[in-house]
Amino acid sequence: MPQAPTAALSARLDSVRRRLIELELDALVVTTLPNILYLTNFSGSSAILVVTAEQVLFLTDSRYVAAVSDTRGKPYECPRLELVDVEGSYDARLGDLLVSPALKTPTTPARVGFEAAHLTVSRLTWLERHVEGRVALLPTVGIVEAVRIVKDAHELTALRRAGRLLSGVAADVLRAVRTGQTERDLALDIDFRLRRAGFERTAFETIVASGPNSALPHARPTERKLSKGDLVVLDFGGVYDSYCVDLTRTVSIGAAGARARQVYAAVLNGHDQALAAVRPGASRFEIDDAARTVLEQEGMGAAFGHGTGHGLGLEVHEDPHITRRRADIDSRDEAIASGMVFTIEPGAYFPGWGGVRIEDDVVVTPGGAELLTDVTTTLLEI
Ligand code: GLY
Repeated sequence: MPQAPTAALSARLDSVRRRLIELELDALVVTTLPNILYLTNFSGSSAILVVTAEQVLFLTDSRYVAAVSDTRGKPYECPRLELVDVEGSYDARLGDLLVSPALKTPTTPARVGFEAAHLTVSRLTWLERHVEGRVALLPTVGIVEAVRIVKDAHELTALRRAGRLLSGVAADVLRAVRTGQTERDLALDIDFRLRRAGFERTAFETIVASGPNSALPHARPTERKLSKGDLVVLDFGGVYDSYCVDLTRTVSIGAAGARARQVYAAVLNGHDQALAAVRPGASRFEIDDAARTVLEQEGMGAAFGHGTGHGLGLEVHEDPHITRRRADIDSRDEAIASGMVFTIEPGAYFPGWGGVRIEDDVVVTPGGAELLTDVTTTLLEI
């Protein structure tokens, strides 16, 4: 599996360090695994990272020590990584490290940030007791995520390749859909095709939702058989070289009725308008608004309950979130920038009748949206 080159890891760590300087922090304890993967290429299940101005202290246990040591001298090794072997409790080892001379920080007591969205209250309470008076533990929010939001060249290569692979799978899936198949069988077939195409795993539980089930945006596949007159929402994604891509198409079993055509046309227009609104400098709310306005004008505003899109990367749902502005919580109007990658996936859902969603993945370029996925958006009647 190609890993991020050492130069990319250096640049990512430097971006984190610049933020630590702004926040007057001596160190950041990184406990979120996707953030650890992003900064070190480590893809195991247990590790803690401590980043200082000069150090990258990497705590892991015997299951992973050899694999991490093996990266030494490789073109994807994490620069200046110091292995800290954990025997027993990670938190005890971290607590000891934070108060030991091995942690080189200019201030005393050291100002050490932790990831407030990830460290549990009980772990924090334990650590605070352990380092009391010797280290100030300070909450931080989204330091690594703010770097991850703009993809670098290595990531864009993986995402573009993943988008092409997913499009190939989608084209095959659209040819394979048959009347009489159960949702569950079709979902299994999609998962098999994803794995066979080269994806490491599915990015989330595949959605096949037919007839009235298609009115549930995140329906689970059932034993229901695809039947004439159904709209069928097919939403699936894969993880390739650790990067997630995600695509939805809606098809009709047999000829689509007038209402299905009308809803489909409205959702497709919303999708196209949102794509057209993607440009560096646009706000994420503006892109959502482009899709939402179309559906509202068609009298379907209430049927579009979710956001227009979500960021893609090491996680299938990450920043930026392309949503309606909520005045009570969204005080910032974060601008979209070149290199951000996200989905555009408006939908309209009518309980008891059905729904439509059309989803593609884009990377923001100076010229606007570049589609990572490329599959027909014509309403297919199967
Ligand atoms: N497309 C499915 C999801 O975003 O979870």
